[in-house]
Amino acid sequence: MRKKYKSSSSEDTLKIAKEFARGLKGNELIYLKGELGAGKTVFIKGIASYFGIDKNEVNSPTFTLMNVYEGKIPIFHLDLYRLSPEEAEEMISDFVGKGLIILEWGDRLKEDIFDLPAFFIEIKVLEEDKREIIIEKIEDK
Ligand SMILES: Nc1ncnc2c1ncn2[C@@H]1O[C@H](COP(=O)(O)OP(=O)(O)OP(=O)(O)O)[C@@H](O)[C@H]1O
Ligand SMILES: [Mg+2]
Repeated sequence: MRKKYKSSSSEDTLKIAKEFARGLKGNELIYLKGELGAGKTVFIKGIASYFGIDKNEVNSPTFTLMNVYEGKIPIFHLDLYRLSPEEAEEMISDFVGKGLIILEWGDRLKEDIFDLPAFFIEIKVLEEDKREIIIEKIEDK
């Protein structure tokens, strides 16, 4: 499965993320790719709010490396920006099977080694407030 969306505002991105979240069970791994300010955190706010978490609780865990949100399901929000692939893998493995895992800068991992249903989501900045959002299910898992 591969879907493409156009977003013209952060509100659009929130809506697209909420719609995507409807199809989640809560045990998945989500890799998010996109440059600084692309809207990765905005997308995660949309997912989190679908699961009953206040959007204001959701921020890039740039210094803390990880945020945990306790909504209808636990969400582990990691930022891999400052981690080596090895450090990131070690950290992620602690949360496998415990809830939804969402990775900002998920493309820093070269391979999808985890035995979890997974999605790869890329947010491309087109101009100003315009974004293209590509959602891909990683098949055969
Ligand atoms: N269409 C859009 N979708 C998402 N965000 C948008 C859009 N248009 C403008 N923005 C703005 O872009 C910014 C996106 O910030 P956000 O923190 O989500 O980026 P990020 O990808 O998480 O960056 P970082 O890598 O620094 O964590 C916000 O200020 C948001 O309001
Ligand atoms: Mg962010």
